[in-house]
Amino acid sequence: MQRVGVLTSGGDAPGMNAAVRAIVRKGIYYGLEVYGIKRGFHGLINGDFEKMELGSVADIIQRGGTRLLTARCPEFVTRAGQEKAVNKIKEYKLDGLIVIGGDGSFRGAMALGDRGVVQTIGIPGSIDSDIPYTDVCIGFDTAMNTVTDAITKLRDTATSHERIFVVEVMGREAGFLALYAGLAGGAESILIPEIDFDIDEVCARIKKGHERGKLHSIILVAEGAASGIAIGEAIKKKTDMDTRITILGHLQRGGTPTAFDRNIASRMGSKALDLLWEGKSNLMVGLMGGEINSTEFSTALSQRKALDETIYELARILAT
Ligand code: ADP
Ligand code: F6P
Repeated sequence: MQRVGVLTSGGDAPGMNAAVRAIVRKGIYYGLEVYGIKRGFHGLINGDFEKMELGSVADIIQRGGTRLLTARCPEFVTRAGQEKAVNKIKEYKLDGLIVIGGDGSFRGAMALGDRGVVQTIGIPGSIDSDIPYTDVCIGFDTAMNTVTDAITKLRDTATSHERIFVVEVMGREAGFLALYAGLAGGAESILIPEIDFDIDEVCARIKKGHERGKLHSIILVAEGAASGIAIGEAIKKKTDMDTRITILGHLQRGGTPTAFDRNIASRMGSKALDLLWEGKSNLMVGLMGGEINSTEFSTALSQRKALDETIYELARILAT
């Protein structure tokens, strides 16, 4: 093991920078050369490499986004694209490649690992936090706090005007962000892709709360469950109550990473280097029960992360 590459891929997530910093500095600690690869698999295909020094990752632990830039790269999904990437890996004599991203990025890393040209390790970074074999992904805690903070602010104005607020949050395939921010923010209803909902029941809960004197209702909608606009319009029509819609959008992806995200990113980045140093490949790093461990890509990618329905029930009971 002499040379290691690191890239960030897919949607950015707060804390990715802390992971890059940990990889660069732990790699140099091991006496390795570390290359930052720009724009995810796009940079791997096109040879957009930067030799990283200790100072290359100075002053980024506290920054959201990713210093290495990120991209979605359809070309890499093709055999021809992967051939180009393999050629660059050989040209730069990379022994190890660390991919920070979501499940799509891990599929790309596994495709390279399976070819046996490079050892690959994945680090889960996604505000969706929809990867199994890790309690959370880097960025989830920060995004959850961002959404909770937005709900807290919207509650003030919702209460003052005695309004209903429908808040659309990110999560095309998964509702973890909506669920945990909804529990933290005391949302009256949480609509997520994993669980069917009935709009009449949502409206009935709003009316019941109103009758017992609630001054506001917050309805949290994951984008994969429904459109916030459609839900807001339906609620307005069915309840005849004053309703407003807020789509949080990409502000959920930015911002200073929380201490929790910086810490897991630092620990996961360090673990990824340890695994490469031990000669391991085709593994993702995860946080399980407070410990940083690793799981085969093939195992993790064959499953969908299960949502804890007791949390969903708890949120409903507590926001009655
Ligand atoms: P995320 O990693 O956040 O899930 P994407 O699903 O957009 O984000 O994947 C990021 C990138 O990973 C894609 O643009 C593509 O380059 C690569 N990728 C995704 N799926 C595959 C696959 N099945 N095989 C190879 N590469 C893939
Ligand atoms: O996967 C992270 C995520 O933020 C999803 O929650 C969201 O649906 C998607 O990325 C948005 O992607 P883009 O930034 O390409 O619009």
